[in-house]
Amino acid sequence: MNAPSTHSRITGTGGFLPPRRLSNADMVALLAQRGVETSDDWIVERTGIRARHFVDDGVHASDLAVAAARRALEAARREAGEVDLIIVATSTPDMVFPSTAAIVQNKLGIAGCPAFDLQAVCSGFVYALTVADAMIRAGSARCALVIGAEVFSRLLDFDDRTTCVLFGDGAGAVVLEASPTPGIVASELHADGRHVGILCVPGTVAGGQVLGDPLLKMDGQAVFKLAVSALEGVARSVLAKAGCQASDIDWLIPHQANIRIMQSTARKLGLAPEKVVVTVGDHGNTSAASVPLALDVAVRDGRVCPGHRVMLEGVGGGFTWGAVLLDY
Ligand code: ACO
Repeated sequence: MNAPSTHSRITGTGGFLPPRRLSNADMVALLAQRGVETSDDWIVERTGIRARHFVDDGVHASDLAVAAARRALEAARREAGEVDLIIVATSTPDMVFPSTAAIVQNKLGIAGCPAFDLQAVCSGFVYALTVADAMIRAGSARCALVIGAEVFSRLLDFDDRTTCVLFGDGAGAVVLEASPTPGIVASELHADGRHVGILCVPGTVAGGQVLGDPLLKMDGQAVFKLAVSALEGVARSVLAKAGCQASDIDWLIPHQANIRIMQSTARKLGLAPEKVVVTVGDHGNTSAASVPLALDVAVRDGRVCPGHRVMLEGVGGGFTWGAVLLDY
């Protein structure tokens, strides 16, 4: 056990998208083969999505996670051997067990440190970052890899146009280290299991068979309404905890599900649209990977700079939601 550290801080970010990119035109063609109609206009107007990336056969969440983790380690100037905690947020693990985090640990060529998965669907990364921050502040770790990695393409029902056009695959990662200064300023997590049915993959494995439906089901309008109020509420609550105002935020990085949800959240918080990092257009909804992927994009293109105050927000199945306010 290490000596307790007062704070944790992100020291490196990384992202990885599988190379196979499907534009909306590609999705229109793919669905047309099944007699399902959609259009670029509908997808762009209702969601802001123009493209998404899908893995090829044989590629798993751990492969995407390792690629993103290596980039984050390189940015943090750390070796894999220095990592003493791995948390992978995913709803699309390689196997029922062991955890994707254990597989990632092995692929990184390290052993011994704790490694576990965290399942909070699209809020997974914000949950995982909050847990890693708590473990670092408690002295249980000093150099954590926190990863969101998903292969949602494997859960999609390509006969259901209301969901299959929305999601993509990818991974994002951060290195979170013990620090004398924040770092993570405040965070808050929530769940409300009364809404399990509005966004779920209801199937399970038992007796050597998949029981029930293993494809994604979503009541889009119910999710939309809950998401907008949850994202505004949790942002205000975390700002109050930190004793600051929305105007103190340099960048808002919400879960990348739908441009209209993000715009509405920014409007309710009184934030200019230019302060919102938006990657949903190129990535689609990558669930637990969406927030770290968007953070990595904004760090690498020079928008998020050292000293900037950033609000990360997750929302998704469960229903789950949460936010992390940090100084980058
Ligand atoms: N192409 C063309 N038409 C379509 C498509 C499509 N891909 N999908 C739906 N439509 C049609 C519908 O059939 C309907 O037609 P009708 O009026 O003739 O019945 C019409 O478009 C409107 O459908 P709605 O469902 O009312 O569309 P809406 O404006 O609500 O947008 C959407 C749907 C994009 C899913 C929206 O509700 C949404 O973004 N919800 C939130 C999703 C979300 O945030 N998920 C995040 C969590 S993800 C996680 O945790 C895993």
